[in-house]
Amino acid sequence: MGESMKVVAVLYPGGEAAKETPELLGCVENCLGIRDMVASYGHELVALSDAGVELDKHIPTAHVIIATPFWPAYIDGKRIKKAANLRVLLTAGVGSDHFDLAVAAESGVTVAEITGSNVVSVAEHVVMQILILVRNFLPAYRDVIAGGWNIGEDVGRSVGGNAGAHDLEDKTVGIVGMGRIGQRVAARLKPFDVDLRYYDFRHLSTVEEQYLGVRYMTLDSLLKECDVVSINCPLTPETEGLFNRERLGSMKKGAYLVNTARGKIVDMDALAETMREGHLAGYAGDVWYPQPAPPDHPWRSMPNHAMTPHVSGTSLEAQKRYAEGIRDCLECIFEGRPLDRDYLIVAGGKIVSPSYSYAYK
Ligand code: NAI
Repeated sequence: MGESMKVVAVLYPGGEAAKETPELLGCVENCLGIRDMVASYGHELVALSDAGVELDKHIPTAHVIIATPFWPAYIDGKRIKKAANLRVLLTAGVGSDHFDLAVAAESGVTVAEITGSNVVSVAEHVVMQILILVRNFLPAYRDVIAGGWNIGEDVGRSVGGNAGAHDLEDKTVGIVGMGRIGQRVAARLKPFDVDLRYYDFRHLSTVEEQYLGVRYMTLDSLLKECDVVSINCPLTPETEGLFNRERLGSMKKGAYLVNTARGKIVDMDALAETMREGHLAGYAGDVWYPQPAPPDHPWRSMPNHAMTPHVSGTSLEAQKRYAEGIRDCLECIFEGRPLDRDYLIVAGGKIVSPSYSYAYK
């Protein structure tokens, strides 16, 4: 590509923290540390936080659009069709469902993400949130803040459906989507002496199963038998709404559900209702739809949840890794070199990532 290119990056506003924390590379102010590099190649960089009207102004002239799952720019089919110059859609992170992959493929647009960049960060967050729920951390923490010392209330069951404080040991934990994150969750949970199960349309090898101490199960059996379920598959047309009213209802009564994959995998209203009915003992995760979640999003106020904003995959270490990956990708694009094959989700008019292609056949 000899011509001057326009790179548009849609990133979260870092505010004061952006100045205090230069490693906060994923924010619009620090812009992945790529400003000088893009300028040194003679290309234009536009960094913005408004994924609506402001982004729309740049779509027809952008050659590369960078978006991040934490503050997503939803680049649907209509936007891709308006983007006459668009060559590459890049995800600063992992999970490219904010792009219409089918239309990108039809339009010959390449889609890539920084595979593996934040998988450890998410796996740690999953383990933390499982423990927060099972150990009943939040009521005990709130008790301390309020000046109390109510051991009975902090540990016992309550009328509001709170299941009390438990050990994780000996519980059955199921992982839905046994990829890079799922496997790391399993590896980190194994020393807790739990009974680990998984569901994925791709089976691990016998050696991998033995190493991680996991057993394959159908999704239906996993949901019926597990005390804790962690969702770690991508959002695809097949997984959207996978956890609907019926599946949530088929989970073991009093189970905990942790979703750090994507908000839309769980039906928003069905979950809020299931939580209000007390069928599940707790829900945690950090992914919502839409993002940022509006102040009245029903998951903010449902009982027994331990949600965070979408932060699990954007620890400062993760930001360094995905910023480096974006830099590598841009250098490849500017120098006309192919992108790392592991990063590719859509290439040559096809969905090439095995984690996504299954759902688009
Ligand atoms: P990966 O591609 O390594 O693994 C995904 C696994 O899900 C694969 O083994 C695939 O076979 C499986 N899968 C796909 N469709 C499935 C289905 N219908 N049912 C069961 N399994 C299915 O991806 P990785 O790195 O483990 O990430 C997984 C997802 O986690 C991402 O796609 C993204 O949505 C989310 N994520 C969230 C982050 C956060 O900050 N909360 C950060 C990184 C990823």
